[in-house]
Amino acid sequence: MTRALVIDSSSRTLGSVTRTLTQKFSAGFSQKYGEESVVYRDLVKSSVPHLSADTIEGFFSLQPTYRAKRATVLSDLLVDEFLQADVICIGVAVYNFNIPSSLKAYIDQIVRIGKTFRKQGDGRLEGLCQNKKLIILYSMGGMYQDTEMDFIKPYFKALAGFIGISDVEFIAIEGTSRLGFKLEEHIEESTMRIETLLDLGNSEVEHA
Ligand SMILES: Cc1cc2nc3c(=O)[nH]c(=O)nc-3n(C[C@H](O)[C@H](O)[C@H](O)COP(=O)(O)O)c2cc1C
Repeated sequence: MTRALVIDSSSRTLGSVTRTLTQKFSAGFSQKYGEESVVYRDLVKSSVPHLSADTIEGFFSLQPTYRAKRATVLSDLLVDEFLQADVICIGVAVYNFNIPSSLKAYIDQIVRIGKTFRKQGDGRLEGLCQNKKLIILYSMGGMYQDTEMDFIKPYFKALAGFIGISDVEFIAIEGTSRLGFKLEEHIEESTMRIETLLDLGNSEVEHA
């Protein structure tokens, strides 16, 4: 079965541009692959804790203490959920040129040695998340996509590459804080792009 993991990270639960886009994605995906095909995670309603010393010990120690093992239980669950998805779609509200801290806390729990990447015999690192597609739906008040101030694209490209995902797509809505910003027009245009991606996703997932 083709599965999507859809993640929201905007602190706004009302009037959020990225939440509107992730809903469009979820609706399109479940229409195409069935109601059961989408797993949804809201990082604001159910926040993920920051890494603790015990969690880090649990990740890296060859003989973790009982306490450290317990500290990775949530990470185990999040990693399984991530690995089971063929497509991961993340709504990213840009905060202070970066991703929301709720999302960073989540990423720290799923980028994990031996699970989503591994160290090879020669010491080189290898991503373990091949054959997945990552779709980043991001929204920013300003207008600087693809300039040196846009840290979202380079960050996700590097991160995805690190865990073995080479297929990364971005849809950005810019200028949401600007006077005269026409939300409906932007949502419509982005929804069309999401629909196009879903068609592409279909053929790629089927050939995988
Ligand atoms: C705390 C905070 C920080 C923000 N920082 C930036 C920023 O650095 N650059 C930017 O272009 N917009 C910034 N914005 C505007 C948001 O990116 C914009 O409102 C976006 O639409 C948020 O996504 P959402 O509509 O899904 O909540 C910020 C908004 C907030 C609330």
